[in-house]
Amino acid sequence: MTLEELEAAKAASLAEAAAANDAAAVEALRVKYVGRNGSIPGLVKAMKDVPKEDRPAFGKALQAWRAELEASLAAKGGGTAGEKRADADLTLPGRWWRSGVMHPLSRVIEETADIFGHLGFTVADGPELETKFNNFTALNTPAHHPSMDRSDTFWFGDDCLLRTQTSPVQIRTMLANKPPVRVICPGRTYRRDTTDATHSANFHQIEGLYVDTKPVSLADLKSVLAYFAREMMGDGVEVRFRPHFFPFTEPSVEVDFSCHVCKGKGCNVCKQSGWIEVAGAGMVDPRVFRHVGYDPDQVSGYAFGFGVERIAMIKYGIADIRWLYENDLRFLSQMA
Ligand code: DAH
Repeated sequence: MTLEELEAAKAASLAEAAAANDAAAVEALRVKYVGRNGSIPGLVKAMKDVPKEDRPAFGKALQAWRAELEASLAAKGGGTAGEKRADADLTLPGRWWRSGVMHPLSRVIEETADIFGHLGFTVADGPELETKFNNFTALNTPAHHPSMDRSDTFWFGDDCLLRTQTSPVQIRTMLANKPPVRVICPGRTYRRDTTDATHSANFHQIEGLYVDTKPVSLADLKSVLAYFAREMMGDGVEVRFRPHFFPFTEPSVEVDFSCHVCKGKGCNVCKQSGWIEVAGAGMVDPRVFRHVGYDPDQVSGYAFGFGVERIAMIKYGIADIRWLYENDLRFLSQMA
């Protein structure tokens, strides 16, 4: 459309407005010219096809057209675009939108990434379909270990499986990077578990790994987990280590947080013990370093892994893991 054609169209629309003699006609003109799919918004959209040098003049002319037409329609008693209709019943209840909320599992993952981000950790990712090497062998899992059993793990052939833990991302990270590495790896994991209130065949874990050429100690691990515990669960939450065994760490520990609900006094959340088991952890085993081509005499590090569902359940007081997968907004919105 040229500027002359625009002016002609404008004159025609103003004449139509002058001739409109009832509310319906005024409203029809509003829809035709200034409504969402009306000609003026249409021409605004088409501005990109107007030659660049003509655009400012064209834009100004469109603005003037809209202003004059709206004024003329308003003078006839019609509402301008966006303005309430004069005859609208303002006492009617408004429209109600149910706003969405972030899923508790996403929240725990985001908060964890944020907390460890402050300590210099970045987020690493790995596939859910893994090799036997990354999920078991490089993590120093002996060939006869029960976790490799067909009854525990979803296998796709002899070498391919749905990862049973996020620990294989440790292997991928070390294979792809020279030390120091400092990552957390959130993601889905799979085990052949029968679903009940505390088990799901598909759940989430967050792995952590720190390896450096300067000495790293169990005390470093404990201080980092203590910082995480307080940021995630609240002030005053303590961390304790209990000796344990994992093939990929030596020494290995199980990590408990003091109960954030009863402050360690004993309640039904912590089963009267004052402590809640949240993670496995330890110092990376030298054999794992050898599998990824790191020299165990040159590097040291710690690793940890915890269940996202477990953290969400204790943090928000969720009694049944299945509620996390039902997408019932009545449940989810309680954690908003
Ligand atoms: N992968 C272990 C599990 O699924 C958790 C774990 C324990 C991860 C100790 C670690 C670790 O990195 O050092 O139970």
